[in-house]
Amino acid sequence: MENNNNNSNPYQSLLNQMDEAAKIAGLEPDDYIFLRYPEREITVNFPVKMDDGQLRMFTGHRVQHSSIRGPYKGGLRYHPNLDMDEVRALAGWMTFKCAVADIPYGGAKGGIVCDPCELSDYEMERLTRTYTAKIVDFIGPSIDIPAPDINTNAQIMSWIMDTYGKLEGCYAPGVVTGKPLEMGGSLGRQGAAGRGAAIITREIAAKAGINLEGASVALQGFGNVGRAAAESLHLLGARIVALCDISGAFYCKTGIDIPGLLEYVKTSPRHLIKGFTQDGLTPIDNDDLLRAKVDFLVLAAMENQITRKVAKEVQARILVEAANGPTTYEGNKILVERGITTVPDILTNSGGVVVSYFEWVQNMQHMAWDMETINCNLERIMVQSFNEVYTMAEKKDIPMREAAYIVALKRLVATQKARGFFP
Ligand SMILES: NC(=O)c1ccc[n+]([C@@H]2O[C@H](COP(=O)([O-])OP(=O)(O)OC[C@H]3O[C@@H](n4cnc5c(N)ncnc54)[C@H](O)[C@@H]3O)[C@@H](O)[C@H]2O)c1
Repeated sequence: MENNNNNSNPYQSLLNQMDEAAKIAGLEPDDYIFLRYPEREITVNFPVKMDDGQLRMFTGHRVQHSSIRGPYKGGLRYHPNLDMDEVRALAGWMTFKCAVADIPYGGAKGGIVCDPCELSDYEMERLTRTYTAKIVDFIGPSIDIPAPDINTNAQIMSWIMDTYGKLEGCYAPGVVTGKPLEMGGSLGRQGAAGRGAAIITREIAAKAGINLEGASVALQGFGNVGRAAAESLHLLGARIVALCDISGAFYCKTGIDIPGLLEYVKTSPRHLIKGFTQDGLTPIDNDDLLRAKVDFLVLAAMENQITRKVAKEVQARILVEAANGPTTYEGNKILVERGITTVPDILTNSGGVVVSYFEWVQNMQHMAWDMETINCNLERIMVQSFNEVYTMAEKKDIPMREAAYIVALKRLVATQKARGFFP
């Protein structure tokens, strides 16, 4: 875990970021040593009966990084390449993200190594319920609260809530967030991370003197986060000129028809953008999108996209990290050297966990908020977090990533000091 030479390891990147921020903040290594190690790591192996009657073994993980500031909180990812270092890093980023947003949660992340495209709905349900049963002693509304992430959704959260309730003999909607409305979900949770990312883009545009009305945007990823970010940025007047998902990429100088594309992916195979047509739309290479000459490059797909090589060729004025960990540690160094502003993931995509927090608060109080209350509170928290990070960056003359880590570290260290160490 502590190999200083391995910068492509996402958990090592997190440790490096933490160390650099701590140094600038004047913290001693002992002040934050407890954040270098996840508090608990769980791996479960379990059989699932497939539709053809055969048993197949699956592996699931849950990493609980920190509970200093509240219950563990973080998404569940279903992906064939999921590995422990990735989950560790994602769990750590959740700790920092919740501290930047100043919401009372720690950090966690988990998932199952699987390819959802190969599974039927019934197989997916059995897989999810068995995984939940395997980790049931370690989750709960005051312990650890999973949520959707890549390839997981409101239906999967419903199965987790139902399984947890049956095994624990209680009604506990607060055990997961990102549920459907009829299961105690919140208005506005779907797409909250993307809407939050658009608020952050608006704020950084104002600081950089870029008029968002007509500003050009390249967007990587058109899933849960990317779709909502595209919709909000379009409503703010931005011109999304390049867009991609796993099925391909396209470019349109005058701006992609976002309402038309959102309608298209409602019924397209696996909700992919492939096959969408519009006057002036030309196919491009996925990699070219990252090098597009635009005002904003919004990353809303996967981690490790902006490597050292890509960072040298980025032509965007500002990078907006709506995904988790899209820039490698080395890639970030190059962007800083080149003077390209990056708005970091732990600030930019926190809208998802912020509205998850609202959902959990509503569940704990057995109340439902209206959309206006959700949006006003989301706006307030996003703008407040942005201003805190931006002010820290200005004050110390450092990039916003370091500033965000300092804001979070200060809160985490202060809470740990007040709690003391036990046992
Ligand atoms: N869903 C949330 O609430 C939430 C909140 C905070 C952060 N995030 C992060 O945002 C990112 C996206 O999450 P999501 O929920 O939108 O996932 P998703 O599965 O709904 O969408 C992912 C998108 O990325 C695309 N994609 C995957 N690999 C790609 C590649 N190599 N090139 C181009 N496109 C590719 C997919 O086709 C899809 O459009 C992840 O890093 C996730 O951890 C999600």
